[in-house]
Amino acid sequence: MKRETWGSRAGFILAAVGSAIGLGNIWRFPYMAFENGGGAFLIPYFFALVTAGIPILILEFSLGHKMKGSAPFTFAKLNRKWEWLGWWQVFISFVIAVYYVVIVGWAISYVGYSFTLAWGDKTVAFFTGDFLGLTDSPFHLGGFRWGIVAATLFAWLVSFVVLYAGVKSGIEKANKIFMPLLIVILLIVMVRGVTLPGAADGLERLFRPDFSKMLSGRVWIAAYGQIFFSLSIAFAIMLTYASYLPEKSDIVNNAFMTGLLNCGFSILSGITVFSIIGFMTQQAGGQLPEKLSGVFLAFATIPQAINQLPTMSVLVGVLFFLSLTFAGLSSFISINEVLVSSFADKLNLPRKKVVVGYTLIAGLVSLVFTTGAGLYILDIVDHWVNNFGVVLSGLTELIFIGWICKLITLREHFEPVSDFKVGMWWELTVKFVTPFVLAVTAVQGFIQEFT
Ligand code: PHE
Ligand code: NA
Repeated sequence: MKRETWGSRAGFILAAVGSAIGLGNIWRFPYMAFENGGGAFLIPYFFALVTAGIPILILEFSLGHKMKGSAPFTFAKLNRKWEWLGWWQVFISFVIAVYYVVIVGWAISYVGYSFTLAWGDKTVAFFTGDFLGLTDSPFHLGGFRWGIVAATLFAWLVSFVVLYAGVKSGIEKANKIFMPLLIVILLIVMVRGVTLPGAADGLERLFRPDFSKMLSGRVWIAAYGQIFFSLSIAFAIMLTYASYLPEKSDIVNNAFMTGLLNCGFSILSGITVFSIIGFMTQQAGGQLPEKLSGVFLAFATIPQAINQLPTMSVLVGVLFFLSLTFAGLSSFISINEVLVSSFADKLNLPRKKVVVGYTLIAGLVSLVFTTGAGLYILDIVDHWVNNFGVVLSGLTELIFIGWICKLITLREHFEPVSDFKVGMWWELTVKFVTPFVLAVTAVQGFIQEFT
């Protein structure tokens, strides 16, 4: 059977960028930068982009493009004993999919709440109490939150429709709608943000460089972590998307486009979020808001800021949560595609059947996160996946491809068809620099966890 391909180069890049740009860009990057040296964080961040992000994108794009199959299929073809690495990545993707979808569901619910600013004055209490019905421990489920169940199922429905329609008429088409909308929305919210009183102060807090932080290993690890998560690498996603590339494709060029567009978007989100934070800080007489990252930034602090806006509160609210929704959905779809393609390859089933079966099973599993204990379970799962799952997967992938397989064949695959010559840089980063950083990260993670 002939493998489906993307309709155009732009279609592939939009899909890859759609996977990359997600919740992590909007609520993780701004805080990371703020916490880890402000403007100076851009140094380790771009270093990580150039030594890990783009080289691994090139690696995963080449593998997918060359082998034309899912991750388990690709690794098995390189070496029969290594199929498990593909399944490990599939497993991580599954775990992420079943909680990521619930957060997308929250964003969808909050689009609705924005119309009436339903969260009221006490936005933290509204989020954890009225909305999540948060219980007192991960073992006390407290029953389903039906509003969240409905929104989560809606996100599954979107993914189902898109994946069922296929690569070109589903994934590509969806991203051609979501991505331009997302950019336009972000730009509108950004303009509103930077024209608020206090915005300049927020931006100064975000970008003021603190070079002393550059001496801390933690900051460098944070930069690499952000690049891995943000570019969706070591999750088999980029490999899977690249398996649908047509024969003649400039891999290196595509990797640069994806990496740079994603980082550009992150910086724009940083500007948006921190100009709004600057405004809130001014309103509070110089007091920074307490929660500046993660779900509380998005679902408590930003709603609080929206309450205080002099004009256009509803519009900004709707647009902000729509941006989370679109960013989240396109990433969510990309994770699901990893599973769909892997099981379609393994079981030799038509993809439509796999889409139905997968959506039913994963949809059911995801419901555990729609209970009152959802946020606790989510935090635990997220912690393990990001601190160990991805780091180990990335490290193993690089050891396998860089040291056990012959890297040179991969380079022979992409170099002749590229405008760029990657030279020593690519091999050096993929074989030495990034494995070293990942190994240090893993060791440090274990020490922190178990001592
Ligand atoms: N890259 C996405 C983001 O920044 C997250 C993601 C990670 C999506 C892994 C898919 C897989 O939010
Ligand atoms: Na996305």
